Amino acid sequence: KILILDFGSQVTQLIARRVREQQVYCELHPFDVSDDFVRAFGASGVILSGGPNSVYEAEDWRAPQAVFELGVPVLGICYGMQTMAAQLGGKVEGSAKREFGYATLVPATDTKLFRDLADTVDAAGQPQLEVWMSHGDKVVELPPGFRVIGGNASTPIAAMADEARGFYAVQFHPEVTHTIKGRDMFARFVHDICACGNDWTMPGYIDEAVARIREQVGSDEVILGLSGGVDSSVAAALIHRAIGDQLTCVFVDNGLLRLNEAEQVMETFARNLGVRVIHVDATAQFMGHLQGVADPEAKRKIIGREFVEVFQAEAQKLPAARWLAQGTIYPDVIESAGGKTKKAHTIKSHHNVGGLPETLKLSLLEPLRELFKDEVRELGVALGLPREMVYRHPFPGPGLGVRILGEVKKEFADLLRRADAIFIDELRAADWYDKTSQAFAVFLPVKSVGVMGDGRTYEYVVALRAVETQDFMTARWAELPHSLLGKVANRIINEVRGINRVVYDISGKPPATIEWE
Ligand code: XMP
Repeated sequence: KILILDFGSQVTQLIARRVREQQVYCELHPFDVSDDFVRAFGASGVILSGGPNSVYEAEDWRAPQAVFELGVPVLGICYGMQTMAAQLGGKVEGSAKREFGYATLVPATDTKLFRDLADTVDAAGQPQLEVWMSHGDKVVELPPGFRVIGGNASTPIAAMADEARGFYAVQFHPEVTHTIKGRDMFARFVHDICACGNDWTMPGYIDEAVARIREQVGSDEVILGLSGGVDSSVAAALIHRAIGDQLTCVFVDNGLLRLNEAEQVMETFARNLGVRVIHVDATAQFMGHLQGVADPEAKRKIIGREFVEVFQAEAQKLPAARWLAQGTIYPDVIESAGGKTKKAHTIKSHHNVGGLPETLKLSLLEPLRELFKDEVRELGVALGLPREMVYRHPFPGPGLGVRILGEVKKEFADLLRRADAIFIDELRAADWYDKTSQAFAVFLPVKSVGVMGDGRTYEYVVALRAVETQDFMTARWAELPHSLLGKVANRIINEVRGINRVVYDISGKPPATIEWE
């Protein structure tokens, strides 16, 4: 396995993705772990990530010295290269000019890291690599034992290596797709240089995870809050595979779900997979508590609180339960990890069932803790969950509660559900669903005048929202074809009595957010 030490770059998680794509297991930890941790980890290789600092300003942002004493290969990327140079006796200097964007460099042809990787050969017969740069500082003097393995006019030492010790470093970012041969560089590093095998595969993972869950819970009972979202669904399917009827899922219908969502969850889990699911219809309770509440944050709090209430009441009916299962995934684990790099990340918390384990005196079972979202999806398909469920757009915990502006009423939720289903149907039919990251309808509680047939109407407005994004921190509105938007609007106005106007949201994030509340 590979140890990745994070110096706070925005793209560190991509390094882990690239390594796992090579079917090699890896873990990401803050750079300021101890020497003992590094020695005990048992890495076949170490990768030092990029980061926002400058090595000569942030003197305590260094890799644990043990990294260079393990006797395993090390790959430094961007800041990782600079700290490697600084720690091993080279020299790093700031430069007035930042280099940002595509760059071409001439790679050495006799290094394992770039073996057979040149993208093109120039007129003079020189091999060339297209890479992505983003740095201010650079290495100006090699540490003893190193040689240059790639450079260009503006960055003469763009890559360096001490191959006897297995130390490699690159100033560019091989983890981003803009570096065309980046994937292959990771393949060279983990397979050729670190000699890792192809051990990380989904079928292999299922067997391992099943064995681990069985060992962990023994004959105990486990409960899980099933939301219908990807993470809790895959966790349920995996745990059920491991322990069958020792698992009980609680599915709370808060009245703010999408059209037919409850039926679909019951059909997939209870009927098809044979999972024991308790379906609680708590619509009346949620609607009652939301009455008269218009503030978005207040609505979120109420929905979160009522969920805990309902879930707890159900859990108390299962006194034999010792474990609470949750669909925590690796990015959640990384974000809540400690270390100096924590400050460098933007932290977003989604503690939908926060506080539950304490009050219920249950131990936590989190079988997806090591997986990235796309690995979770792959696992879900391998476990027999329907593709549409596993590749569904994200849906917020408070559901339609934050898509009905202002006060939530059952009447509004019913209208919105139907409008939303039409929008999603048409997106799928036009092959646009998978091209957008998130798409949905929003209910606006304002009435406008329309005309239908010979009559005047005075009804509500629905807004359509569709965005494209990588990380949901920034997003662009999707340029859906006008004909598709027209068709959706027509169908909603004709089929959903109570809506006589449809608008399309063309705001980006920032400054708008994806959800309207
Ligand atoms: P915003 O609206 O902040 O949304 O641009 C970014 C992503 O987060 C989701 N979101 C939530 N998810 N509880 C959740 O579980 C929430 O309260 C919540 N608010 C927003 C949103 O759907 C989008 O994917």
